[in-house]
Amino acid sequence: MKNIFYPKAHFNNIYEITPNFLKNKGVEGVLLDIDNTLVPYAVKVPSEKVLTWLTTLQEAGIKAAILSNAKAERIATFTEQTGLPIIEKAGKPLKRGFRQAEKLLGMPKEKLCIIGDQFFTDIWGGNRSKVYSIWVTPINNEESAFIRLKRWLERPIVKGYRKVMAEKGGDTVGLLGVIGYPIGHSISPQLHQALCDVSGMNYFYDKFLVEPSNLKEAFADFAKKGFRGINVTVPHKPDIIPLLDEVDANALKIGAVNTVVWKDGKSYGYNTDMDGFVMSVKEEANFDFDGKRVLILGAGGAARGVAMGCVTEGAAQVDFCNRTVEKAQALADAFDGGVLSQTDEAFAEKFQTYDLIVNTTSAGMKPQEDKMPLTAEYTFRKGQVCFDAIYVPRRTLWLQKAEKEGATVINGMGMLFYQGVEAFQKWKMADNTKPLTAEQIAQAKALLQERGVMTW
Ligand code: ATR
Repeated sequence: MKNIFYPKAHFNNIYEITPNFLKNKGVEGVLLDIDNTLVPYAVKVPSEKVLTWLTTLQEAGIKAAILSNAKAERIATFTEQTGLPIIEKAGKPLKRGFRQAEKLLGMPKEKLCIIGDQFFTDIWGGNRSKVYSIWVTPINNEESAFIRLKRWLERPIVKGYRKVMAEKGGDTVGLLGVIGYPIGHSISPQLHQALCDVSGMNYFYDKFLVEPSNLKEAFADFAKKGFRGINVTVPHKPDIIPLLDEVDANALKIGAVNTVVWKDGKSYGYNTDMDGFVMSVKEEANFDFDGKRVLILGAGGAARGVAMGCVTEGAAQVDFCNRTVEKAQALADAFDGGVLSQTDEAFAEKFQTYDLIVNTTSAGMKPQEDKMPLTAEYTFRKGQVCFDAIYVPRRTLWLQKAEKEGATVINGMGMLFYQGVEAFQKWKMADNTKPLTAEQIAQAKALLQERGVMTW
């Protein structure tokens, strides 16, 4: 995409441009066009919304200035009310305004970004001056004859840009995110950044703390802001279901959605945790589920996802073992499986009949590293595959025991990775682009290890 008129990124409006997006691109100062970018043409008073957006940027340490081709008096009200420094008569696309901006904001061009609605002034100027360029769709309003002429001249460029972006994946920066409560520890942004990096997708992925009482409102807000999709994590996975237009049959049976896709104004829910589990076990243990016996420890949402994966892959028997036996029974009923009770006299013997044993409980997870999911006496047998959905720590006590006793062990890192990959594939395909190739997936995995985000 070499065209000198093309922006580096496109957003539908300024409000979608978050401090994290800018920081992610190394931007520390934004140069703002006014007309049809921040406010409608001829309106020279900033709205509350503009002021709030500016405050959000400034609070995040991002500086801002006005870079306008207009004279200062014409935009005096605007600059007064925002308190922003201004470069008037900037002569965009000439470089001189941009050079002044470096001095005014006290930072080199590499840290600057132009945000504007016109290709021939804002974007071209930014590209010539080697600052990051963001094109926002012009706010539709009455425009002067001169601007209408420029719009007409811009048309082939807009069309070409949209075409290139459509081929590459979407005509805008696709907004994505993960919601949860808490969410601070999530590494999903780094995971999806790696997937973007290997595929050239123009997505931006952020994390959002959403309180359970605010889920419905927050969800509506994501849709309104034009998000392409979100990941959903604890505790929202079951509660998001009634808010969706359509839910995949497997996700419905699991009772948990971890991936939402918006397409043509409708929301679709999927469970890619299940896929992540299956892919991880297949890859890391070279395991073929067909005709196998599986024992699942735990009886929560994760257990349901794992069970669905096993059934879908053709496992012959899926049994459940849980501290609270009634819950194991409920899952056994739902998935045509059995229950293995820890009080069963033949527990140790029966335990060895399983080809795959999966821990979905939180026993052993930081900060409960000293815990094990089972209290009964048993040993693993050689050749059994032992999967723990926990990935912090990398080797739970339970996996250590399994390894010592000759089982093949897998931690939850691969499941985490592949649930992300599968979510990304869904968004990518909803954007009418080809799915990631096996090579790209391998590259992303290597990149994540290199960056120290994920280690297996
Ligand atoms: P998720 O939806 O992530 O699977 P969950 O619904 O809270 O989480 O389910 C956690 C499961 O782990 C439950 O089956 C729980 O057992 P109970 O049904 O008896 O509560 C199990 N679990 C959690 N901590 C455990 C522990 N220390 N030992 C054994 N099982 C445990």
